[in-house]
Amino acid sequence: MSTSKNFSDKVVLITGSSGGIGAVTAVEFARCGAQVVITGRNADNLSEVAKQCAAVSPKGLKPLEVLADVSKDVDCKRLIDSTISAFKRLDILVNNAGRGMHCPITDTALLDKYREVMDTNLRSVIYLTHLSVEHLEKTKGNIINISSIVALKPVSTAFLYSMSKCALDMFTKCLALELGPKGIRVNVINPGAVRTNFLQAVGLTKEQSEAAYSERGVQYPVGRVGESIDIANAILFLASDEASFVTGIQFVSDGGALNANTS
Ligand SMILES: NC(=O)c1ccc[n+]([C@@H]2O[C@H](COP(=O)([O-])OP(=O)(O)OC[C@H]3O[C@@H](n4cnc5c(N)ncnc54)[C@H](OP(=O)(O)O)[C@@H]3O)[C@@H](O)[C@H]2O)c1
Repeated sequence: MSTSKNFSDKVVLITGSSGGIGAVTAVEFARCGAQVVITGRNADNLSEVAKQCAAVSPKGLKPLEVLADVSKDVDCKRLIDSTISAFKRLDILVNNAGRGMHCPITDTALLDKYREVMDTNLRSVIYLTHLSVEHLEKTKGNIINISSIVALKPVSTAFLYSMSKCALDMFTKCLALELGPKGIRVNVINPGAVRTNFLQAVGLTKEQSEAAYSERGVQYPVGRVGESIDIANAILFLASDEASFVTGIQFVSDGGALNANTS
């Protein structure tokens, strides 16, 4: 168990919850009593996560599963509409869905890749936030965005990804100012490398991905890369009332990587 926090009666929507950080976060919220809404593009993965959530939920609550591609505006709208239609409220929005992108500036598909990354990592967050504000204002809820330490440190040939996360950080800080008076907190978490399918999603084999995480782990001051539960713990803290005085912050969870000058 990651935390003793109580999220009973809270409705929590976590994007990118069919795998990786989002899936573990959904399970932890469910364990703490929340009614979770899980979403992604892969139906099989989503139903597997749904089973895990229901199994740990103290009241056996079943998650609402919404198949959606967040890079599509209509899907974002359907995601919020489905949530409100099912539960009549939204307390916590975790904008976690995201993808990496290797793209040198000379890449012939540059502008297509630009659109793909920005639509998934940034436009979706802006639109989902826009659609959620009226509901979060009623519940005095909060938003957690998932960025990366590469928003704070440049990485060669990953400028599209870094820029999307850098913009997400600034979006978070601006929104914290705008939404504070409405009683809505907005924070962002900047993880270092976390062992998930993230690298495989950008084309590495499982073996290459494992090797990359092992190599980085050695360079990290704590001697390992992150696990999804590390980031889930940070998300649940920032989403909880224990963090009620915290808004507009960048919460770096990276095993000391930034200070060690590695990513
Ligand atoms: N792992 C790391 O090292 C690391 C480090 C720093 C930050 N992050 C950030 O952490 C977040 C979660 O990443 P992860 O490591 O958990 O990666 P992951 O294992 O690849 O999971 C990504 C999740 O996002 C979903 N997703 C991706 N594109 C989507 C789209 N267009 N529409 C809907 N869902 C989409 C995926 O679901 P489907 O495939 O089912 O659509 C999956 O559930 C991302 O924002 C990532 O940038 C990760």
